[in-house]
Amino acid sequence: MPAKVNLQLSVGPLRDDGYHDLVNVFHAVSLFDEVTATPAGRLTVRVSGESIEGVPTDGDNLAARAARLLAGRTGNVPAVDLHIRKAIPVAGGMAGGSADAAAALVACNELWQAGLERDELVELACELGSDVPFALLGGTAVGLGRGERLTSAMVRGRFHWVFACADGGLSTPAVYAECDRLRSAYEEPVSWPHTSEDLMAALATGDAKALGKALHNDLQPAALTLRGSLRRTLTAGREFGALGSLVSGSGPTCAFLTGSEAHAVDLAVGLSGMGVARSVERAYGPVAGATVL
Ligand code: C5P
Repeated sequence: MPAKVNLQLSVGPLRDDGYHDLVNVFHAVSLFDEVTATPAGRLTVRVSGESIEGVPTDGDNLAARAARLLAGRTGNVPAVDLHIRKAIPVAGGMAGGSADAAAALVACNELWQAGLERDELVELACELGSDVPFALLGGTAVGLGRGERLTSAMVRGRFHWVFACADGGLSTPAVYAECDRLRSAYEEPVSWPHTSEDLMAALATGDAKALGKALHNDLQPAALTLRGSLRRTLTAGREFGALGSLVSGSGPTCAFLTGSEAHAVDLAVGLSGMGVARSVERAYGPVAGATVL
């Protein structure tokens, strides 16, 4: 299941239910977690990978919650072992937990022959989290509402990305709360978000330079306040010629758009040499959403 980067994340006013209305342009990239579902005596979660500190291995894991939710709705017993092989940065703003939940839905639907259709799985995905429906869909899509009302976007070609993964994660609710705090402290008027026409045109024509200019994340000032070291990471990427750079989602992963695979290799090598990140990854997008292997 792929990771995502938000090409546009425009955050509207805080709603009564504690969420914000968004324009959230999701883009699935080729960094994958893999979830294997095997029949077991009870629900268990195992996690493997290089940097997996902080990932719950109990019933709180979003993949375990997905299995329980699907079982409850389809009259199955969630007696399954979920083995998650993680490559997506943990709490990194790339929706790794959502990808695992989407994968668990798809895998358990197969394992139990529950026969739920895609739109039924999407409904369950909405209950699990705002980013889970996109993890099922993949590609590039505009998310409205909490980010869960999705429409696929037209994209020409492939975009090449570099991701700088930071040490330690950032909590999504904390970053949204910091965004609200900064807005009220600076008395910023919060307007209703609109989809960027420049961004959609850049995607439709496959124009990486224009896409780089149109990238935008309203959560970035909040992520930078909470994690000041990210400023240096973003500056380093720009110095190595990134066409665009931004914090991915609620961070702390920073995303850099490049013009070609070769440029991505150069930028990744440059960033690694600077020592501004725990690890540096390359990926391309868009890629498909949750699939059975
Ligand atoms: O839906 P999910 O569980 O992923 O959301 C995590 C948190 O992110 C929410 O509790 C909320 O604080 C914040 N959020 C938000 N507005 C959204 C999506 C998420 O405020 N549209």
